[in-house]
Amino acid sequence: MDVSVFSADIRDHDCELMAASLSADCRLRLVGITHPRRRAQFILGRVLLRHALRGRFGAAADGWRLDASRGKPRLVGVDAPEISLSHARHLVVCATARFDIGLDVEECRTRDFVALAAQICPPLELARFLSLPIDERCVAFYRMWTLKEAIYKLHGGVVAPPEQIGLSSPEEAALRHVYFQPEAGFLGAVVACSSCPPRLILHPLMPTELGLKR
Ligand SMILES: CC(C)(COP(=O)(O)OP(=O)(O)OC[C@H]1O[C@@H](n2cnc3c(N)ncnc32)[C@H](O)[C@@H]1OP(=O)(O)O)[C@@H](O)C(=O)NCCC(=O)NCCS
Repeated sequence: MDVSVFSADIRDHDCELMAASLSADCRLRLVGITHPRRRAQFILGRVLLRHALRGRFGAAADGWRLDASRGKPRLVGVDAPEISLSHARHLVVCATARFDIGLDVEECRTRDFVALAAQICPPLELARFLSLPIDERCVAFYRMWTLKEAIYKLHGGVVAPPEQIGLSSPEEAALRHVYFQPEAGFLGAVVACSSCPPRLILHPLMPTELGLKR
């Protein structure tokens, strides 16, 4: 039940230089992305994913092609594993596993948690959230948010409005989840279609590991 989670920092790399190594499909998508940080996230996400796949699956990874044409990115090819990608500010994270997964990471910054929770929670979940001491609400909010986003990503699209997404619904009963802290101030959630909670193997990358250090 292992999920390998790789993370890297866009500030450590010259991401535009890395773009030359992307597939033609990815370079075409990149043309439509203009925001500099979003471009860096997109490029580093692809490079990190390739690195993660080669590290975990060896030469077999070279036979798999990434298809992101229908929202959820998937690998196409014989015996290809499942993947999920997420970014938050400078942080880029990808997960690979032998079962379906969804990954989300968020920066835990202060926001109007009550208003946001009211938008994404059903009444019981909201009441539980509002009963928490103020200083526990930030983590509690990002746990709910990342979990819902990770479930959304596992399914590859809308299954229900956010307030109906959660692990208490019968549709999600087969899902297991785990939280992790990719770095201080960030929270991540991985949801897996598995019989027991996934075991995360974290691989925070050193700047030199991807070759092209800034
Ligand atoms: C698509 C969505 C899930 C992306 O999440 P995000 O937090 O904005 O961004 P992240 O960086 O975490 O994830 C982006 C990555 O998700 C992946 N992704 C995009 N669409 C996806 C989909 N339909 N299914 C699975 N993964 C998807 C992509 O790999 C993308 O990165 P890339 O474009 O560089 O390849 C989100 O914008 C969304 O639409 N959520 C709807 C659900 C909702 O209402 N959530 C509110 C809180 S419950």
